[in-house]
Amino acid sequence: MRVSVVGLGYVGLVTAASLAEWGNDVVGIEADEARLTALKNGRMPIFEPGLDDLVRSNGIASRLRFVGPDGMADAVAGSDVVMVAVGTHDGNGGWQTDTISQTLDALVPLIRPGAALVIRSTLPPDYVATLGAYMASQSDPGERPIPTMLNPEFTREGTAIRDFMQPDRVVIGVVTDDDEVGRNALATMYEPSGAPIVVLPAVDASLGKLAANLFLATKISFANELAGICDTYGANVDNVVTSMSYDHRIGGAFLRPGVGFGGSCLPNQVTMTLLAAQAREVHAPLLAAVKQINEFQPRRVLIALRELLPELAGARIAVLGLTFKPDTDDVREAPAHKIVRHLTAAGARVVAYDPMPRARDAAMAGFPDLAVTASPMVAVSGADAVVLATEWRELRDLDWAAAAELARRPIIVDGRNALDPASMTAAGWTYHGFGRGTQQPATWAEPASIAAAEAAVLSLVPTASLGRSLAE
Ligand code: UDX
Repeated sequence: MRVSVVGLGYVGLVTAASLAEWGNDVVGIEADEARLTALKNGRMPIFEPGLDDLVRSNGIASRLRFVGPDGMADAVAGSDVVMVAVGTHDGNGGWQTDTISQTLDALVPLIRPGAALVIRSTLPPDYVATLGAYMASQSDPGERPIPTMLNPEFTREGTAIRDFMQPDRVVIGVVTDDDEVGRNALATMYEPSGAPIVVLPAVDASLGKLAANLFLATKISFANELAGICDTYGANVDNVVTSMSYDHRIGGAFLRPGVGFGGSCLPNQVTMTLLAAQAREVHAPLLAAVKQINEFQPRRVLIALRELLPELAGARIAVLGLTFKPDTDDVREAPAHKIVRHLTAAGARVVAYDPMPRARDAAMAGFPDLAVTASPMVAVSGADAVVLATEWRELRDLDWAAAAELARRPIIVDGRNALDPASMTAAGWTYHGFGRGTQQPATWAEPASIAAAEAAVLSLVPTASLGRSLAE
């Protein structure tokens, strides 16, 4: 199958490389010159495990090539399927649909009869609802509109290629597909995955994508609240979650407490859905709570350090891990950055380390007062406390006994419950995890700022709905 993929960010590049690996003839189209030049010269503009090998081998096999806007017309005209994976975040917690609208305006007239348009970008449902009329307006009267489908992605950074090739399901959202050309093309395309294919109306598919992320965010916030409850009883959240996970209605995934969820999807999509609910006066207190809990988690690190240290102001704190999760170079909404911000505001001297050079550069650019090192042991040397903010394997496997010798005070706050408390204690550390039996006042707070944080979250929920909820 001949495929064009427009937009080569995390989603588009993984899609293009994986489809090429399945034997398709793929052209990736990218407007950003620096990104395109990097790809043409065999350099990856993003870090994703295995992606460089896939791009290189499929380039050599002539199944994958990259073009700029000047190559778009030829690539699209020669394609059976045209996929769009351009960005839809405004970078400020909201949606932006200008890029996809402009992309569609440029693309649609180039698509040849019989080919299908597939939108892989995550879109707001109200924009999806306009797509049918838009596609009809792009065809001549009496002509059938181009088959147009949504195909939301469920890939996680760090495991994106495996998630693409072995998905739990493939969702197809039908915008317009009178002769089933689009769904047949996608069914053929995804045959190698062996995954069930779920065909839905487009708006349902877009909400199916959003709801999956909202539910994952809810699970994590639930685990974080549960960890606080476990702490008050001196119980171990790992054991509590293990006992829950045997129940097939619950499962054990995404119930790991810690400093909260970050990244480009979960935090933004919770906020954007809340804002949309507010605009429509829909009662959504659960999502408001999910957001509130998540925003509080990085502060729990400060709460712990204030308990464990005689004085936080002036203390040297090592923050290990700066990306929003391991195996990525992505620092968007990284809880580690929030921790650095809180610690700096509290007067601590912060020294940070991440295995990813790009993540270290981003932290240096974002925090002028932050010291960043290229070695975890240098960060730990002389530290009054260590915070594990991202559970990179390198950090989990650190020689913690040697690190304890280097620290001024061997105190660690494990922000990801990634280390074994008993081994850490044996290695000389005073260990503090989340919900791992460490007694910590669950409600400690800086009253003014917590009240402000709560007010900010509650302001997202329509007052009328709040009134109703209190009355009920
Ligand atoms: C997410 C969705 O998982 C994916 O299906 C969708 O396509 C894109 O958004 P991603 O943002 O790459 O993927 O990261 P994910 O693995 O979901 O983790 C998000 C955040 O939650 C990370 O900061 C992670 O550390 C945190 N997390 C995850 C927890 O705090 N606890 C958990 O149990 C799981």
